[in-house]
Amino acid sequence: MGGAGRRRIAAAFVRAAFVRARLCVRVRLCARSSLCIPGAVATVSPQSSRAAHPGSRGKNTLALHTKLRTKQTAPETVGVAGSDGERPETETALLAVRDLRVRFTQGKRQVHAVNGISYDLRAGRSLAIIGESGSGKTVSCRAVMGLLPPSATVTGSVRLGGDELVGLSEKALSRYRGAGVAMVFQDPARSLNPTMRIGPQVAEAVRAHLPVSRKDARDRAVHLLQRVRVPAAARRYLDYPHQLSGGMRQRVMIAIALACDPKLLIADEATTGLDVTTQAQIMELLLELQSQTNMALILVSHDLGLAASYVDEVIVMYGGRAVEQASTSELFANVRMPYTQALLHAIPRLGRPAHEVLPVVEGRPPDLSHLPAGCAFAPRCDRADDTCRTTTPQLEDPTGGTHRFACWHPCDEPVAVG
Ligand SMILES: Nc1ncnc2c1ncn2[C@@H]1O[C@H](COP(=O)(O)OP(=O)(O)OP(=O)(O)O)[C@@H](O)[C@H]1O
Ligand code: SF4
Ligand SMILES: [Mg+2]
Repeated sequence: MGGAGRRRIAAAFVRAAFVRARLCVRVRLCARSSLCIPGAVATVSPQSSRAAHPGSRGKNTLALHTKLRTKQTAPETVGVAGSDGERPETETALLAVRDLRVRFTQGKRQVHAVNGISYDLRAGRSLAIIGESGSGKTVSCRAVMGLLPPSATVTGSVRLGGDELVGLSEKALSRYRGAGVAMVFQDPARSLNPTMRIGPQVAEAVRAHLPVSRKDARDRAVHLLQRVRVPAAARRYLDYPHQLSGGMRQRVMIAIALACDPKLLIADEATTGLDVTTQAQIMELLLELQSQTNMALILVSHDLGLAASYVDEVIVMYGGRAVEQASTSELFANVRMPYTQALLHAIPRLGRPAHEVLPVVEGRPPDLSHLPAGCAFAPRCDRADDTCRTTTPQLEDPTGGTHRFACWHPCDEPVAVG
């Protein structure tokens, strides 16, 4: 073979290697996106969505949509489990979570990420799940969505519109995502596909769940971008994620999650990392969208102040457990759990003297693979005694009411908020 022939073969190898490398990058991006982006809710790449979520479009999804809509028009639904004593017990919750537990197995190590949380959430109501980093907030929500890796073992019950989701196959679960429940994931910068324009990412989410034409999906995507107040939505349809600010990217993520008008929206740290003005705008947007559609909203945050301002019910998580749970007004009128109190003290306040060291919750959260005996907060709690260190307090309201807390020596002095 002559020199020219060898050069042609070498060039062909280089081209093949280049194409393979590009494919690998795209596959990696897609794999990451389908993990981070509302999975079936809004898959990022044309390659991944329909292949990854077969059966997510068509009659099944529409039937579920209709079913959930019908349920929504049923009289009323109950609030966070046991937190609204005035409502009749016969009412049905849109979401009913009971004794939800998630354990990850990593070789011989077991991480007990969620250790038995229970709550009910009605259509049109909002719930905040609050806690420090690593307390199990995201994992508990991903368990509701059925979006956990194979190393996770999920037990307990998650009922959406009366249907049990725990134990369903991926194919069956995909019917509930999008129209039933959608999630805005932590970190919009990583959740959007950086190589794809934002409009097609929203349109892709629409087509992943609804049997519509490309044109109708595009029109709906523009409408969704308008709905989440992306300015000049039709023009910005063709922007890439890096051309948007953090707040705008978060709006796009919300548009993707709203693609199929979910009955339940889970917003995981939807405002973290944004300046306070943008935070407030995003929160106002979420609440406005919620009231327009009677959607139920779960807000995941480490910011107790955010919960105080915006939601109906609060669950405070620590070490994978709910340690205080009540309606927002009940909780803030009388904080009982020392951990909740410590979180409240850590909120920066305008009235504090300048240059004062900000209070923090001293110590470190527990290692979820080696949870201590008794109350997991004991190593950080100045009220802890031997009972705390040996016996786990149950989450309950000793008066039989609806403000439940897990503590042997609860606080009794009111805590100022704001
Ligand atoms: N895939 C996984 N395998 C093993 N452990 C995991 C996995 N995902 C989460 N965890 C562990 O579960 C625990 C709870 O994680 P989770 O992401 O729910 O915390 P979080 O409360 O959402 O924290 P943050 O505020 O930082 O988002 C952590 O200890 C985490 O390391
Ligand atoms: S049970 Fe004991 S250690 Fe735990 S929060 Fe209450 S007082 Fe503190
Ligand atoms: Mg999280």
